[in-house]
Amino acid sequence: MSRTSRLPGFYKVSVEERRALVSEATGEAPRDIARALEAGGLDEETADKFVENVIGTYGLPYGVALNVRVNGRDHVVPMVVEEPSVVAAASNAARMIREGDGFIAEVDESLMTAQVQLTHVSDREGAKARILAAEAALLKLADEAIPGLIERGGGSRAVEVRLLGDADDAMIVVHVFVDCRDAMGANLVNGLAERIAPNLAELAGGRIGLRILSNLCDRRCVRVRCRVPAKVLATEDMDGESVALGIVNASRFAELDPYRAATHNKGIMNGIDAVVIATGNDWRAVEAGAHAFAARSGKYAPLATWRCNDAGDLVGAIELPMALGTVGGTLRVHPAARLSLRLLRVTTAKDLACIAASLGLASNLAALRALATCGIQRGHMALHARSVAVAAGATGSEVERVATIIVEARDITLEAARKALEVTRSARDDRALETWERVDSAK
Ligand code: MEV
Repeated sequence: MSRTSRLPGFYKVSVEERRALVSEATGEAPRDIARALEAGGLDEETADKFVENVIGTYGLPYGVALNVRVNGRDHVVPMVVEEPSVVAAASNAARMIREGDGFIAEVDESLMTAQVQLTHVSDREGAKARILAAEAALLKLADEAIPGLIERGGGSRAVEVRLLGDADDAMIVVHVFVDCRDAMGANLVNGLAERIAPNLAELAGGRIGLRILSNLCDRRCVRVRCRVPAKVLATEDMDGESVALGIVNASRFAELDPYRAATHNKGIMNGIDAVVIATGNDWRAVEAGAHAFAARSGKYAPLATWRCNDAGDLVGAIELPMALGTVGGTLRVHPAARLSLRLLRVTTAKDLACIAASLGLASNLAALRALATCGIQRGHMALHARSVAVAAGATGSEVERVATIIVEARDITLEAARKALEVTRSARDDRALETWERVDSAK
């Protein structure tokens, strides 16, 4: 059954109603959604098995990004994030990208890199030649460490030897590339590295150093591109072509300046991390890979860039390593992480990587559009105003009304919110109604 992730008015309804809409869009029963998200999806007993010295759990908001279409398929995308406006901004940008055929994504094989460091290697070139000559035997030995993965069609694929530093360092590192299929692969790769290290040391005539995966998994990259018709970028004050040029200008800024590139990439990771966390994956690994990749030329660079095509439309592209799993690890035990995969309706790590990177591109577009037009603060202020309205005692639809009034009045304080609430509640107060009607019709 083909399902849509276009759910207009979603933000206006209650949490329970949103679950019902997500249920319709994904086929997941509302009670299963509610159950999986109870207490943040993780009870204390389970948490106690995850890590050490547990004294409780720590909750974060679980939202869904809408309008996301990747390679022609719609997805409701779970995002776990504490920062206001990230989910709304990604959904909004995804809606614009949808106008231009959605996200077009492609992904490499799930190749992770095992690193075995060898020290005290006096003849480094000889060691390299001997190790490469023994590649077939080494791969066979490596595969013995990962029988489950072999059954699932994965396994070690190739060996590479790199000489580090100069001859005085007497150091080489052996890489074994391992196809981890739908697993993130850290445990598999680490086990494999430990298994083959003694043989490598013998071949090299050196000593074993570190045996661990590399988080710079640049053979496991995902690439996403999109096209946004210029006209859908227009704001109240700027036409679409000018906004598109402003976004290209912002992209160039990040391409030319590492100080800006860091913030540009932070905005990208807002979208990616939220998906990575929602699906129970290791966001530190993804972050480490992303930033190391961003610096691969020797100069820290943006992970996503934007240009205008001949028709004047905005085109964006992102590329980064993406080590995600849809099996094993946290997913085995975390009900909310499992729910996320069901809502996404993905089973493969490759599909998940395409979606996560798409959310990165969407988050970047949203940030650059805001920065190139009215600035980032207006949206942030609107969201801040909602929390101030709640703090002033507004409930239900009052929250939006009070927030709108204090934003309009440019007075986002508790005192102003209390006053706005008072007038909103007073049915006889014509001024409140008038303000509300004016603001509502402008939306
Ligand atoms: C804030 O979380 C992210 C931004 O700073 C990203 C950017 O500047 O591109 C808005």
